[in-house]
Amino acid sequence: MKIAVLPGDGIGTEIVAQAVKVLEVLRSDGLKIEMEYGNIGGAGYDAEGDPLPESTLALAQASDAVLLGAVGGPQYDTLDRPLRPERGLLRIRKGLNLFANLRPALLYPELASASTLKPEVVSGLDIMIVRELTGDIYFGQPRGISTLANGEREGINTMRYTESEVRRIGRVAFDIAMKRNKKVCSVDKANVLETTELWRQVMIEVARDYPEVELSHMYVDNAAMQLVRAPKQFDVVVTGNIFGDILSDEASMLTGSIGMLPSASLDENNKGMYEPSHGSAPDIAGRDLANPLATILSVAMMLRYTFADEASATRIENAVKQALVQGYRTGDIHTEGTNRVGCNAMGDAVVAAL
Ligand code: IPM
Ligand code: MG
Repeated sequence: MKIAVLPGDGIGTEIVAQAVKVLEVLRSDGLKIEMEYGNIGGAGYDAEGDPLPESTLALAQASDAVLLGAVGGPQYDTLDRPLRPERGLLRIRKGLNLFANLRPALLYPELASASTLKPEVVSGLDIMIVRELTGDIYFGQPRGISTLANGEREGINTMRYTESEVRRIGRVAFDIAMKRNKKVCSVDKANVLETTELWRQVMIEVARDYPEVELSHMYVDNAAMQLVRAPKQFDVVVTGNIFGDILSDEASMLTGSIGMLPSASLDENNKGMYEPSHGSAPDIAGRDLANPLATILSVAMMLRYTFADEASATRIENAVKQALVQGYRTGDIHTEGTNRVGCNAMGDAVVAAL
């Protein structure tokens, strides 16, 4: 099994190093893996003048899975848009056809007091957000900033989805729901946006093939509200690219910290890219402060979804749980009476638990 390792920018290098330590343990225990590093994001731009160098895309295409850290940093924000780190990330998602983004928001009991919500609101929380990742306003044409005849500037982005794009992400969500509590909530803005009116119609069609799954619909504004009011009502949430981007950040805070939220981005054949849901956190980069658990948990998702190795996936998740039970906490999830550690020591705690 070949894994492309793309640390990227900011805290990317530190958190990926911890995840690699975890993979090394599994390898020394007999897991057959091979890792090869590549540049992406600002690191790609600095080294090769492109946020997604051709060599990196080729490496990712030739690999079974990709482990990614994070991209972006203030020093790149004034570059031409095509050269910016974020564009590299969008291009690799599109280039590998990773249309299904799974973002599980799971509350570890030990972190109930780290959430900004009351423990009784979040305890037992287990939501799977299924975000469409290669369509919507992120990729729709036309787009751009232009100057009108009267000299005023205008910005344009286009929200668009084809039926088949909605159908394939719908199937992913329903398939996952069949293995969970058999509830899918499709989030749209069908009262205003035609694109999402079509989304809703197609979801209803997909649901006919899954008679055991209960489908509900929710407008995105209400979903944002319900997520903080009564998040445990959700099992699987399926939504488009932009709504999924926003709601998954919101859901992550229910779990105590976005530093806990892993993700998997899959193609039709379960080839995948695995990355924490959070960004490159330039403000704390290089200071051994970042929480590596989202990245380590992303490795667990890699083993589960791409390598179909449930035993190793569970082993990693249990090691993370054990590190938390033992009281290890990075700054983002630290509460009184727990043991505050850095990124590296948190990685070591997981390795020791493994
Ligand atoms: C995410 C991030 C990215 C996105 C950015 C960095 C382009 O916010 O993975 O959620 O918007 O998809
Ligand atoms: Mg985001």
